[in-house]
Amino acid sequence: MNTAIELTGLTKDYGSRRGLDDLSLRVAAGEVFGYLGPNGAGKSTTIRLMLDLIRPTSGTVRVLGMDPRADAVRLHRRIGYLAGDFVVDGRQRAGECLSFLGDLRGGVPAARVLDLADRLELDLSARVRSLSKGNRQKVGLVQAFMHRPELLILDEPTSGLDPLVQQTFLEMVAEAKAAGQTVFMSSHIMSEVEAVADRVAIIREGRLAAVDTVTALRERSLLRVRIDFAEAVTAEEFAALPGVTDLTVTGAEGGATLTCRLDGRPDALVKAAARHTVTDLRAENQDLEELFHAYYTGGRPGAATGPTR
Ligand SMILES: Nc1ncnc2c1ncn2[C@@H]1O[C@H](COP(=O)(O)OP(=O)(O)OP(=O)(O)O)[C@@H](O)[C@H]1O
Ligand SMILES: [Mg+2]
Repeated sequence: MNTAIELTGLTKDYGSRRGLDDLSLRVAAGEVFGYLGPNGAGKSTTIRLMLDLIRPTSGTVRVLGMDPRADAVRLHRRIGYLAGDFVVDGRQRAGECLSFLGDLRGGVPAARVLDLADRLELDLSARVRSLSKGNRQKVGLVQAFMHRPELLILDEPTSGLDPLVQQTFLEMVAEAKAAGQTVFMSSHIMSEVEAVADRVAIIREGRLAAVDTVTALRERSLLRVRIDFAEAVTAEEFAALPGVTDLTVTGAEGGATLTCRLDGRPDALVKAAARHTVTDLRAENQDLEELFHAYYTGGRPGAATGPTR
């Protein structure tokens, strides 16, 4: 499989602050890769290093088989980049700004820009500085996508977008993937990327906390179980069962309700429950957002999701 991005032992010290700490990561060509982490985790730092906008303290970066430092000009033509703090000359009209940026990339058909602007509901005749934050972000999206680059590197692309436009953006990502383009995108929110991403990395305090396929993360997430009983039950009957955590038992109208998380086989829990009259049983997967929060706060995924420090 071809590699689109390869980071090896990447470290960035900002004086006393550590931006990134010995980070290694490989993104395959053609994949949609979600890069998740809380504020200050090092997402933008990673992205700026990929584009040679800043230089690493140590470690190496290869993008589309090239060294971004040595091949900056050639590389930038093959990449669509949306900065987290996208800024352009505010006096220009959005359309002028985009045709200027298109020319820099060797020319983009006007119809392509019109089509993207139309889908995102961006008014090309408006002056950039008169646009709202979300509408300015659309200019950033159009300039990243318009030349159909091999690799899209998007730093918080959905920031400021309303839900409908977010949906349009996700469709644009899905189309890019279908066309064989690679997409690397950062976000704070799992639900934004899980619909389109093949894999996600979770970064925390400059280090990788997890990298996996969205499917595997989902499979690994725990079950949340709720059982209703016709009679009273005690927490002690269930607390020590294998895989059971976060147990609560509450009484209601002569019956009782048990909730817990379950890791692994449900057999022991089901057998213990079956000693009583079960009136209802529900089990659902912990959602990825919750899993993600556990990584955020440094906890073990599936453990109680509150802060652990
Ligand atoms: N130019 C800089 N000088 C000093 N420290 C910096 C600089 N840029 C980033 N940092 C620090 O590096 C760490 C990572 O910052 P970075 O901007 O990469 O985080 P991020 O994951 O993009 O966060 P956000 O979600 O807020 O955009 C932070 O602690 C930040 O304060
Ligand atoms: Mg950032």
